Order: sequence, then C-alpha cells, then structure tokens
Amino acid sequence: MGVPRLLCRCSSVLAVVGLVLNVAGLCNGGITSSFVRKVEKTIDMPLDSDVFSVPPGYNAPQQVHITQGDHVGEAMIVSWVTVDEPGSDTVLYWSENSKQKKEAKGRVTTYKFYNYTSGYIHHCTIWKLKFNTKYYYEVGNGHTMRTFWFTTPPEVGPDVPYTFGLIGDLGQSFDSNITLNHYEFNPTEGKTVLFVGDLSYADNYPNHDNVRWDTWGRFTERSAAYQPWIWTAGNHEIDFAPEIGETKPFKPYSHRYQVPYKASNSTAPFWYSIKRASAYIIVLSSYSAYGKYTPQYKWLEAELPKVNRSETPWLIVLMHSPWYNSYNYHYMEGETMRVMYEPWFVRYKVDVVFAGHVHAYERSERVSNIAYNVMNGICSPVSDQSAPVYITIGDGGNLEGLATNMTEPQPKYSAFREASFGHAIFDIKNRTHAYYGWHRNQDGYAVEADSLWFFNRFWHPVDDSTSAQS
Ligand SMILES: [Fe+2]
Repeated sequence: MGVPRLLCRCSSVLAVVGLVLNVAGLCNGGITSSFVRKVEKTIDMPLDSDVFSVPPGYNAPQQVHITQGDHVGEAMIVSWVTVDEPGSDTVLYWSENSKQKKEAKGRVTTYKFYNYTSGYIHHCTIWKLKFNTKYYYEVGNGHTMRTFWFTTPPEVGPDVPYTFGLIGDLGQSFDSNITLNHYEFNPTEGKTVLFVGDLSYADNYPNHDNVRWDTWGRFTERSAAYQPWIWTAGNHEIDFAPEIGETKPFKPYSHRYQVPYKASNSTAPFWYSIKRASAYIIVLSSYSAYGKYTPQYKWLEAELPKVNRSETPWLIVLMHSPWYNSYNYHYMEGETMRVMYEPWFVRYKVDVVFAGHVHAYERSERVSNIAYNVMNGICSPVSDQSAPVYITIGDGGNLEGLATNMTEPQPKYSAFREASFGHAIFDIKNRTHAYYGWHRNQDGYAVEADSLWFFNRFWHPVDDSTSAQS
C-alpha cells in the first residue's frame, strides 16, 4: 500500500504544492507528508477491555515486564504485581537447553498515591545469564504460577546485528493497541523496545487515577514480558500533584519501572546507559536538572568519553522532549537542554537521538546549532555530518490525540514529518550499516512510510556531500 508522500521541496515544486490541499504554505525544508488520515477522536480503551483483563487464579502475577539488568546484557530485571498478598519474591528460570530450574530472589514494594494503594510490586534481577540464549521464567511461586520467556542479546561487539523497536507516548487508547499490534507483527522483528517516555497517561484522570497505571501494565505485558523495554521518563511520569498532597515526582513510575542505572555509575534512575549488542544507549531525563554542575550534567560529561566506538559503533540517545521539532506543540521545549548538551553530541558523533513528547512523527537532517555565543548572532541550524539525526517518535497513540498543527514553512532542519500514529525499527546490520524505518498504523505491517540508511561515521566516514539519506 504505497502512499504518495510528495511535496514541499522549495521553489522547483511550487506548481505541485499548489495542488495539494493539506499544505498551507511554501516550504524551505524537506517533506511534509501528504498522507491523509481519517480524523477520529483518540479515546482510551474501557476498563473492561480484553487487553486489561486480570489473569485468572489466586494472587496471579500481572503486569509482568522485563528490562536489561546490567550494563552489558547478562542480567534481566523481572517485575510483576500481585494483588491478594505479597506472595513469593523469587523468579524460577532455566535456559532452553537445560531442565534445571534456578532461582533468583527479588524484593517487593508498595506505594500510596492519594486514595490509591498499589498492589505488591515485585522486582527481581536475574544475574549471570548466558548471551544469546532463550530462557523461560516463572513468577507466582506458591500460588498461581505464570511462565514467560525471553532471549538474551548476543555478547557486545562491533559487528553484532541487532534490531530495536522504537515506541513513544503510548498510552492506552484504541490507537495505542493498534501501535503495539503493528510492532508485534512487523516482519522485521524488534528484539528490544527503546521507549522514549510517557507510558500510561494515568495523570490525565482525576487524582491521577493510578488504576490506569495497572491497566497499562496489563496492556503492555504481551510484549514487555517477553522482550526488554528500555525506559525513558517523560512528563507523564512526573505525577506531581501538590493539590492532593502528592509532591514526590516520579513516584508511581519509579516504584513500578526499574532500570539498571547504578551499572553506569548514575545516581538516579532517570539517566543511565546500557550496551546491547553493537549499540551504546544513553537515556537522558528531560525532567531532571541538566544544567551545569547538576548530577545529570556531570554524569553525561563523564559518560560520553567512555563510549568505545570500536566496541559499540552505534551511539543512540533517548530522551523525551525533542531538540529539533517543527510542530506547533511543545515547540522549543527541548531548547535549554539542547543548548547544554548539543556540542557534546556533535563532538562525540552521536548517531541518532530518539525523542517523543510531540504526538506525531518527524525526522531531521543531520544538523547542529552550536555556533551561537550571544554576541555573534549565528543562531540557525546548519548542515553538519558530525551531528545526529533527530527523530521524534511520540506517535504511540495516547488519548491526547495527534499533533497535527505544523510550523510553516517546514524548516530546513526537518527532513520528513507526518502526523500519524506508528512505531519505528532501528535495524543494525553491522558496524557500518543500520536500516531505519517508520511504520504508520494505517499501513500493512511491512510498509515503511519513511526510511533511512545509516552509515556509521566512525567506521564509514562520509563527507558533507554524501549524507546518509534514504
Ligand atoms: Fe510528553
């Protein structure tokens, strides 16, 4: 189902622009997709939806999810919730080729949020797993047992192929369910989800009704129990509600979703790094202090020089609020962090930055805007082959709906933009090549509405005239 996505490429196509109804003005930049979608309201799935169903059995574990548990992929954090009683903290696990069950011991926590009390939230790290191995695991020992499985990544190395999925701002609407379906059925199978923040959107309900954190956990279990989701905190994770006495930011999120931040010498779970296969992934927090001398600043300053591109050629950064965004939503909200960190991203040749927040899709050119020094007036983004590609993938489908209103004309830094729900795949082939594709929900599972070959600039330097374009 090919979709025409012309348009808007400077004066040579002015005649064509005039024929297209949904392009309001002239553009200096790249492509504003002409894809026309049915405009329907984005509404949350009701509480009695199948995808929210509670697993049967006394004290059955629910909301099962996993994430990487160490810096290199030999550990996995398994999390789940029980509601009748705390139950067992242990995870039983065994590799595909072994009948012998091993046991890992976890811990349980609970929290209160206004008039809501959580279930018993369990977190258990399984250490010393073998690379590239399928493991089964069981939770609910002693009462209702449930069995799941995952495959560990290959050992970290420069030529290890690996496939990441990208999802952001998912929520729990009917559209969210379509997004997750499309990800699951994408023939280019993602092995790990890089999630760029804004999970449940429970805070859009009265008193941040935390029941919607539980439903989100049950909804995403079908993927997150079988492959790791790498978490980034978004603004909907802050849950700061002084009007009802809730003044500790990130309380529900940090109780429910664990990350291996200590493994990268971080002092807080909102910024951290992992290695996975041939990728080095740095997660940043748009909603924690990032100015000079702050813990996040000092951590990132020390972190970037540690990245060994001979070992992990692909340097990926995740954050919630985008730095390059040409929609009229959250416009320039990421600007202050960009000013702080962009020179480092250019110096260390970050390959790609994935962000969310804006409920639409956008991919930038390789640009930087680091020359400005208050006096010189040089404050426009310029083409820069040392700069990352910036991708906004906040199009998971949450109840707030699509961001359809774009700045016009399309700025030069914007290579492709479209207001549709979807997900993306970053498919690393080897140390020199990775293939990226964006999939909108209206298309068949295999269709890419936008794509790009990435040529690794450490192993495959390119000059300015041959930028990595599709
Ligand atoms: Fe957001």
